[in-house]
Amino acid sequence: MPTIKGFSKLSKEAKIEWIVANYLENNQEAIEFLKSYWHEDKVVQKLHDEFIENTVSNFYLPFGVAPNFLIDGKSYCVPMAIEESSVVAAAAKSANFWLDKGGFHTEVIDMVKVGHVHFIWSGKDTARLQTFFDSIRQKLIEGTNHITRNMQQRGGGILDIQLVDRTADEPGYYQIMSTFDTCDSMGANFINSVLEEYSKIFRNELENSDWLEEHEREVQIVMCILSNYTPQCIVRAEVTAPIELMNDGDEMSGQEFVDKFCRAVRIAEIEPYRAATHNKGIMNGIDSVVIATGNDFRAVEASAHTYASRNGKYSSLTHAEVKDGQFRFWLDIPLALGTVGGLTNLHPMVKFAYRMLGNPGAAELMRITAVVGLAQNFSALRSLVTSGIQKGHMKMHLLNILNQLEATEEEKVKIVDYFKDNVVSYSAAVDIFCKIRGIEKPVVASKN
Ligand code: MEV
Repeated sequence: MPTIKGFSKLSKEAKIEWIVANYLENNQEAIEFLKSYWHEDKVVQKLHDEFIENTVSNFYLPFGVAPNFLIDGKSYCVPMAIEESSVVAAAAKSANFWLDKGGFHTEVIDMVKVGHVHFIWSGKDTARLQTFFDSIRQKLIEGTNHITRNMQQRGGGILDIQLVDRTADEPGYYQIMSTFDTCDSMGANFINSVLEEYSKIFRNELENSDWLEEHEREVQIVMCILSNYTPQCIVRAEVTAPIELMNDGDEMSGQEFVDKFCRAVRIAEIEPYRAATHNKGIMNGIDSVVIATGNDFRAVEASAHTYASRNGKYSSLTHAEVKDGQFRFWLDIPLALGTVGGLTNLHPMVKFAYRMLGNPGAAELMRITAVVGLAQNFSALRSLVTSGIQKGHMKMHLLNILNQLEATEEEKVKIVDYFKDNVVSYSAAVDIFCKIRGIEKPVVASKN
């Protein structure tokens, strides 16, 4: 089994050679393959090389756009980076549907971030720890001034610091819980730096306290870390329309459509199996905007799913109702996004995405992203309760199948045309492909 010490210190070329020699049977074409994905502009490539450790090439994702999003009266063409064929099409379809119905409306409910110093205290009397904590609260704030000064100048900083007693769940376990306003940045580095500074001040003050007992001056700092669960960083996106405008072509009346639609949402509210898929569809839209705008989709996913379980049972992030003849559909979601810092000022495509969006601040990006999540869910449910999901999904997936079969451009045109009136499935695509090419079965080994 090949192993290596000091891999990260090798040049990029040497890293590739090592991989190819040890894992790719010394195949020189593999070297050329990896290099063919390098950016021709050396400056741009160097940027990518330095995003992470051990970069050997780039990994492309399609960068698509969904136009016609009307959000709070402003029109957007939204950037989306995603590999799943039907997602951008579904968002764009939804944007179009709502365009002449007043578009999407949003509200940023709050933008508070949170972090904790998790520690174990050997004292027995929580009230005494609380008294001590209250006496040093101001020192914690002042002692982190060198970190918070810039953020304060931008209008943010520390909002609050509390001592939290978690000893009922774990002996000796307490937290310093602090909330933050990180303005237009996501704020992870800022928060973590402040927390680490808190822990040093806290330990120092505790160990040197002149009124705590000897055993009360001992503390074990377990860790200092922000929480990716941000239930106080919430945005709401919603749409409303009179029921009669909610008809699905001639197929279904507005009333029938909203009845089925609301039932589908209700099922996701009460049934975790469905909620997971329902929310996954929402995250198709959210993640693709989050990636295109250089934000951390893992953080957003973690928060969204934790929020979806906040009442003790995993449930839908969207809700729907019909009241006084009006259909209303909305999404409440925690979105801790930043438009400054991180990749946002570095990645060329991210910078382009921001320019296209009119350089929004974090609150505006929260609104746009939530809307795309809602739009995505609307399109998915609309298909699910009418034609079924596969019709549109497979139509979008058709080109992937044809590319797998290595169909020529001419064959693709013929096959796409054929499927204008026929239901797409993998086997139907293979059949028509073979018929057009005059072969019995495809030569390309398929993984399907
Ligand atoms: C597929 O990526 C997403 C859907 O399954 C979402 C849903 O079922 O609501 C279509």
